[in-house]
Amino acid sequence: RFKAVIFDLDGVITDTAHYHYLAWKRLAESEGVPFDEAFNEHLKGVDRMGSLDLILARGSRSYTQDEKLALADTKNRHYQQLIATMTPDDLLPGALRALEEVRAAGLKTGLASVSKNAFTVLDRLGIRDRFDYVVDAARIANSKPHPEIFLTAAQNLGVAPGDCLGVEDAVAGVASIKDAGMYAVGVGSPEVLTRADRVIPSLQKFSLQDY
Ligand code: G6P
Ligand code: MG
Repeated sequence: RFKAVIFDLDGVITDTAHYHYLAWKRLAESEGVPFDEAFNEHLKGVDRMGSLDLILARGSRSYTQDEKLALADTKNRHYQQLIATMTPDDLLPGALRALEEVRAAGLKTGLASVSKNAFTVLDRLGIRDRFDYVVDAARIANSKPHPEIFLTAAQNLGVAPGDCLGVEDAVAGVASIKDAGMYAVGVGSPEVLTRADRVIPSLQKFSLQDY
């Protein structure tokens, strides 16, 4: 019944969510800000400056815009170091099969990541040509949980939002899908992804006939 499936990247197709976590943790701790997995859950799907603001709000001092830009840059350098050695082996189990299933069923594939490193990660994984449309994060004004990025993907795929299925590992990402008027498949735990229509533990369990 769907005409397109729009995937998130970090934490869905590949485990870069963990690399973002490591890079933010290193930065937060260098600023004396406490950082753990539970807090990191709020950062998933949130863009770079938005994430930094959430982290610094837990600290004890205020930062100038220049200081913030420098910190965001430092985090990005930590992150780019971590993704530099990625290969197609870093695709999460089931990711390639899910992409193949969607296309074989005659549906379009889209990618909606607010990461400005998404094209680099896709190239390292060797899967750029498996998407009919990849949103350029640099052209998105509002980070997830705002629906803009999923709506942009649908529009460029030429499919109505109601005919799209979105796949996400982040609370903010599921909110973005639902507020775009799409069906949401969460990847992770149902206790965390409460707004998802269905939750699966990984793409290994993705199956179009279930939705
Ligand atoms: C994704 C990730 C976030 C990350 C954001 C920006 O949404 O889930 O953890 O902060 O992209 O990534 P970037 O590579 O542009 O810093
Ligand atoms: Mg994600």
